[in-house]
Amino acid sequence: MNVAWVHSLPRGTETGEYLTIDLGGTNLRICKVTLHGTSSSSPPSSKSSLDQEQYRISESLKTGTAEELWTYIAEKLADFLTTKGLDRQYTAQKPMPLGFTFSYPATQDRIDHAVLQTWTKGFDIKGVEGQDVAAQLREKIAQRKLPIDLICVVNDTVGALMASAYNDPDTIIGAIFGTGCNAAYMSSISSIKKLATRSSSSNDDTNPQKKDSTDAKMAINCEYGAFDNAHAVLPLTQYDTAIDAASPRPGEQAFEKLSAGLYLGEIFRLILVDLASQNLLFSTSTSPSPSSSSPKLQTPYVLDTGALSAIEDDASPDLSTARATLTSTLGVTATAQDAQAARAIAQMVATRGARLCACGVAAICGMESIERGHVAADGSVANKHPRFKKRWAGAMREVLGWGDRNVYGDGDESGEEDPIVITSAEDGSGVGCGIICAVEVERRRRVSGG
Ligand code: GLC
Repeated sequence: MNVAWVHSLPRGTETGEYLTIDLGGTNLRICKVTLHGTSSSSPPSSKSSLDQEQYRISESLKTGTAEELWTYIAEKLADFLTTKGLDRQYTAQKPMPLGFTFSYPATQDRIDHAVLQTWTKGFDIKGVEGQDVAAQLREKIAQRKLPIDLICVVNDTVGALMASAYNDPDTIIGAIFGTGCNAAYMSSISSIKKLATRSSSSNDDTNPQKKDSTDAKMAINCEYGAFDNAHAVLPLTQYDTAIDAASPRPGEQAFEKLSAGLYLGEIFRLILVDLASQNLLFSTSTSPSPSSSSPKLQTPYVLDTGALSAIEDDASPDLSTARATLTSTLGVTATAQDAQAARAIAQMVATRGARLCACGVAAICGMESIERGHVAADGSVANKHPRFKKRWAGAMREVLGWGDRNVYGDGDESGEEDPIVITSAEDGSGVGCGIICAVEVERRRRVSGG
C-alpha cells in the first residue's frame, strides 16, 4: 500500500503541455500530452491530445544495468525533443515539465521521488532496487543538458485513475489487468497508518496528516500483486510453484503470478507439458517426431494471453482455430480431443485469474465502504481477453454479495447495471501522467506564490 502523493481527482479543467515517459514491459513510450481542459469545444474523450513515439526495450536492457537503462531513456528523450521541435520551444530557464510513469513498486516521500522496492514483471536491472529512480533519471537528463524538469513519478494504476476521472467523475478505482495486476484508489488521509508513523517519528512539516482536514484524500497504489507473498492464504498448484521458483524473484508477487497476463500463458503451457509428458495429450499424433518434444512447447513464456483467448474462443465443432493456434504457438499436432482438453484448461486458468482480479478490487471496496462507481481498467487481459470482464463482474457479484444477481450471467434480470462496474480506462501512463504533472505544477506555483 504505497502513498502516491496525489491529493485529489482532477477537476477536468487542467490545461497545458507536458512530456511523459512510460517504461512498460515491452516498450518505452514518450508522449507530448496537451490538456485542453473544459475550454475545448471537442467531446469529453478528446479533452486531451497526444503526440507519441515508442521505442523497444530489448531483453538485454531488461536484465542489464541502471547505467544502460537511464542512458537509453535520456537518449530517446533527446531524440523525441529534437524530432518534435521541443528543444527549440523549451530552455534550461523554462524547461518542459516531465511526468514519469514507473509501474513498479516504489516508496515515495514526495511525488518527485520514488525508491524502487523490487523489480516485478520479469525485469531484473542491476543497481536500481533501493535507489531513487527520479534521482537516477534526473542525473542523466542533467548530463545531456536536456531542457526537461522531472516533476512526478506515477504508478500506472494512479495514472489510470486520474486519466479516467478527468472524463468520468464516477471513477473510483484505477486498475491494471495486464502484464501485472494492481489497483489504486483515493483514501482518507487520516486512515493512512504509514503517514501516522512518519508524523510521530519527526517534526515533519511535509506530513499531510498534520495540516489537512480529516476528509482530505490521498491516492494509494495498492501493489496487491504482492498480496500473500507469505503464501499463507491462496492455494497454489504445482504449476504456480514451478513458475515462482523459475522467476527472477522467487517468493515475490505471489498474487500477480496467479492472475496477471505475464503468467497466464505460462501456467497453461506448464499444464500441457505435464499432461504431454504423461502421454495424456498430443500422443496420438502421426508426425515423425512426437509433438510433446516440440521445442516451442518446451520454451518458457512462449505463449501470450492472446493465444489463450484464441483457444478458448473457438466454438467450432472440430476446434480448428484452437488446433491451428496450438500448432502455430507450441508446435504441437493436436487432435480434436487434445484441443478440447486444452480449451477446458485455458478456461480454468483464465477464470481463476479473473476471479482473483475481482477479489483485489472487492477488497478495496469493502475496506473503503465503496458501494458504487466505475473501476477504470486497462491492460492486455482487460482489453484483449473477451471473457475477462464478464468473469470479473460475476466474481464481484459473488464476493460483494449482490446475491439476487445472476452470478455468471448478464447481471440482474431487470437489466439493471451492477453498482460497481468495470469501464475502459483512458490512457493512464500518457494522459493520466500528464494530468498529475499539471496538478503538481499548479500546486508548486500556488506554494511559491507565482
Ligand atoms: C506490477 C507492478 C505495479 C503495476 C502493475 C501493473 O504489479 O508492481 O506497480 O501497477 O504491475 O502494471
